[in-house]
Amino acid sequence: MQRAEQIAQSRKLLDYITRRTTALADDVHIEDIAAYASPQRAERERRELFLRRPLCLGLSCRLPNPGDWLTEDHSGTPILLVRDRDRSLRAFVNTCRHRGARVADGAGEKAGGFTCPYHAWNYGLDGKLRTRPNEAAFAGHDRSQCNLIPLPVAEKYGLMWAAATPGLEFDIDAELAGLGPELASYKFDSYSHYRTKVITPETNWKMLVDGFLETYHLPHLHKTTVSPLIFGDLGTFDGYGLNTRMIVVRRGFTDMVKLPEEQWNLIPQSAIIYVLFPNTVLVVQGDHVETWHAYPHASDPGACTTYFSLYTPAPTTTDKQRRHWERNFDLAIDTVEKEDLVMSAGMQRGYEAGHQKTIVFGRNEPCLAHFHQSIDRALGSNRVAAAAE
Ligand code: FES
Ligand SMILES: [Fe+2]
Repeated sequence: MQRAEQIAQSRKLLDYITRRTTALADDVHIEDIAAYASPQRAERERRELFLRRPLCLGLSCRLPNPGDWLTEDHSGTPILLVRDRDRSLRAFVNTCRHRGARVADGAGEKAGGFTCPYHAWNYGLDGKLRTRPNEAAFAGHDRSQCNLIPLPVAEKYGLMWAAATPGLEFDIDAELAGLGPELASYKFDSYSHYRTKVITPETNWKMLVDGFLETYHLPHLHKTTVSPLIFGDLGTFDGYGLNTRMIVVRRGFTDMVKLPEEQWNLIPQSAIIYVLFPNTVLVVQGDHVETWHAYPHASDPGACTTYFSLYTPAPTTTDKQRRHWERNFDLAIDTVEKEDLVMSAGMQRGYEAGHQKTIVFGRNEPCLAHFHQSIDRALGSNRVAAAAE
């Protein structure tokens, strides 16, 4: 975050603390339970949010070297994301052009290409078919139809995006709606990927995101874990197009603001939470960065898959550093899994029982309201790219 913005946000947060208030929406927001429990709504979200928009796939350092690759299976399209020889980012539909087997599974480093495990068709990092056994048997079939199907990608500010529909056009700066320079200020380009864990919460994917978008629950649900570290019912709200930013503060903030303003440094005294629409929560945590990517289940509105990653400003080389990052990793994942998601799973089952038709976000939960209004806008706006049809 740029210096002037840090000062402005710090002043705002100090004012909230002094007045015992927080960022407030103009009104309460009523949300329909169908947003979490309706199969029709879930189907619409999968189509409009996950197939027809770019999805952030994390920091660029997940694929630091040429030949590094990973697979991503929960957008509705099996994606193979690859760092090409010239360091450009590429994505392909992860299906072999022979008979459709998965060309790659999991993740790997420094590959020279990909060989399909079924009949050994071999592809370059650029997705072009290079060799295949018994080439003569395919005489008469257009070889250009045998390259992996490319997917649109973008890489900027040390972050990677891909779209799950071939030919979909997008402009990542337009999607970020002004957040670009702030993201650039963190210099994610120089970060290292520490570890990623995949979890499968029994709850709608939005509930995972919701959990980050208010601090109203901290003193109650996280009494002994997060609450001793972070102020409850206190945070900023800013919307950037469909994206959301919330800044929450650590207890040390009150000492920082006693210093002359030119010595203020908000970053170590805060957690800056972004929703990179639709499904990525990016948390700038003072001395490291965490991302959560939540994907809906293919058919069940009450289930999702979520990738949690921790990134560090420098590579981890010593046991002491590893212990430090493991503690941070465990604190984040344990709090979410053992506290937030236990709560969320109970809420989800309650929604599915169908007796309660709506829930309400208070005026003190403006980020939640903005996230859900953004989804409504995205579902209402017909962004169906011609290319997708
Ligand atoms: S399906 Fe890949 S080589 Fe046959
Ligand atoms: Fe929480």
